[in-house]
Order: sequence, then C-alpha cells, then structure tokens
Amino acid sequence: MTTGLDLDLDYAQEIGALKKQLNAVILAHYYQESEIQDVADFIGDSLQLSQQAAKTNAEVIVFAGVHFMAEVAKILNPGKQVLLPDLKAGCSLAEGCPADLFALFKKKYPNHIVISYINCSAAVKALSDIICTSSNAEKIIRQIPAEQGIIFAPDQNLGRFLIRKTGREMVLWPGSCQVHAIFSEKKIMQLKVQHPGALVLAHPECEESILKMADHIGSTTSILKFAVSSPAKEFIIATEPGIIHQMEKEAPGKVFIPAPPDSNCACNECPHMKLNTMEKLYEAMKNRTPEIIIEEALRFRALQPIERMLAMS
Ligand code: 13P
Ligand code: SF4
Repeated sequence: MTTGLDLDLDYAQEIGALKKQLNAVILAHYYQESEIQDVADFIGDSLQLSQQAAKTNAEVIVFAGVHFMAEVAKILNPGKQVLLPDLKAGCSLAEGCPADLFALFKKKYPNHIVISYINCSAAVKALSDIICTSSNAEKIIRQIPAEQGIIFAPDQNLGRFLIRKTGREMVLWPGSCQVHAIFSEKKIMQLKVQHPGALVLAHPECEESILKMADHIGSTTSILKFAVSSPAKEFIIATEPGIIHQMEKEAPGKVFIPAPPDSNCACNECPHMKLNTMEKLYEAMKNRTPEIIIEEALRFRALQPIERMLAMS
C-alpha cells in the first residue's frame, strides 16, 4: 500500500538494497521518469525489454513500464514474480483493441494471419499468430510469404508506415496512441525555422504528416542511437520526451527539443508511463505487490506468438 512520499527516505538507496534482498532485476522503458531510469538494471525499447525478461536469472522482475510490457515478462516467466508499480499503467493502444471486438474483426478475414504490435493485451496476443514491436515489425513482415493476407493490429499509424516500407497490403485495426497522434505539424515546422540545423526524429506511431517531416523514423532505441551517432547537434524529438534523459546522458552537449502537442497541454507525456513513481517502485518492492497474474491457459496461448517473434527477430 502507498503510504505517501517520505522526504527522509533515500528511495534510490532503498530500492538498491531491496533489489539485492529480493534477487530482483529492474527493467525500465525509456518513457519512465529520469530517477526510475537511473535505478534500473536495464533500460530499453519493447523488444529489448522482452528479450531481457526472457533471459534474466533474477527471481523477481520489477517492471518499470506499462501493463502490457510487464504482462509479456510474466508470460515468458510463469514461475517468477513480476511486479508493476502501478497496475493502472495501461496503454491507449491496448485499451482501444478489446479482445471480443478483435475476435469479431478477425472472423471477417478467415484466411489472414494476425500480426499484432506488442502494445496489446494478453487476450489479443492469444488471438494473434505473431507479435512484433516497432524495431522488428518490418523484418517479420518481410518473412511472410507474399500471397499470405495479413491483419495488423492495433496501431494503424505503424501499420500504414509498414505498408509504405514493405509494399505489403495489410488489413489494419483502427487504433492509435494518444501520445503520438497529437504532435503538431505546424509547431514542428516553426521549430525547424527557429533551429534550421535540427533533425526531426520520430516514432512510427506518429501520424503520417509527422513521419513525412522526419529525418529518421524508428523505435525508441533506434531514435536514441541515431541521435548519439549523428553529426547533427540539434534534434526535434517526436516521441515521448522521457527518452531525452538517456539522450542527454549519452550525447552531452547536443540539444534535444521535445516535439510539441497540438494544444498547450503536456499530452506528449504518456500518462500511463508516468503513473509509476520512485515511491511506488519502492513500495512495490517492499510489499511485493502489485504483481501481474495471468490465468495459465491464456498465458500459454499468448506465449506462442511471442516466441515466434523472438525467433524471427
Ligand atoms: P518502443 O518499442 O519503440 O520502445 O515503443 C514502445 C511504445 O509504447 C511507444 O509508444
Ligand atoms: Fe501506449 Fe502511447 Fe503510452 Fe506508448 S506512449 S505506452 S503506445 S499510450
């Protein structure tokens, strides 16, 4: 149970001690707040985090990310405890694709296979043939025979990007990410005028109008690597700004400008990712709750398409 912020507690130190005590590993996504990234054992994109979860020897996996990511770790590790600091840390893509409606959608295309983006529930994974992430989707689609019909769910922006890249027609579930769908083309244009040397780096969950302006499109890890290795000095970052923490650490001296949303809100920050805090992370480890529980039959069905992804990556 969360008891409120204790100003006398050194959360980083306490979390480090609990990590040893529990034989735990902390896996964090780039969209987590900076303090959480700094106590993590591993920070990565969705594919890297699932690869780490698949190979860890730790007894407890503490997932600093959103629900579907922790769920994948549990699907891969049924015998381990998987903790998520806030069980309400969801994802608009996963929530926008309920399994019952997706099953009806799938029935309309009985000869198609289903490739689902990892940002979906275990129940949707169980209805899928192969899972993918933004870093391996193109590679996976290119391995499917040309005559085979494909349903791609749940992100239509990523789906359209992949259709353009591979030339493969796919049936798309009409979902989108609430964070990546709201970047303002006009404000990015204005930033480019103010910073003529700046490159635009975008996640493929962004709308097509934003991707058209991008100098580089890729997963969070791909965007980070590009920013570090590029000779350019200024970058406009069209993804969740949490990633800028690692960019500033790995490329000090370069300037990273978060792409602004359409309105004057802070809605380029993922409200789900930001539900996790240092305090909740500490409480979760101390009390060994909340944990991810999945019914075994569902876990087993969701495991097959994840294993196919890991083999095809
Ligand atoms: P990555 O796999 O690129 O880290 O993306 C995860 C995500 O949720 C993007 O919004
Ligand atoms: Fe989901 Fe979008 Fe948040 Fe990523 S940024 S976890 S896709 S809501």
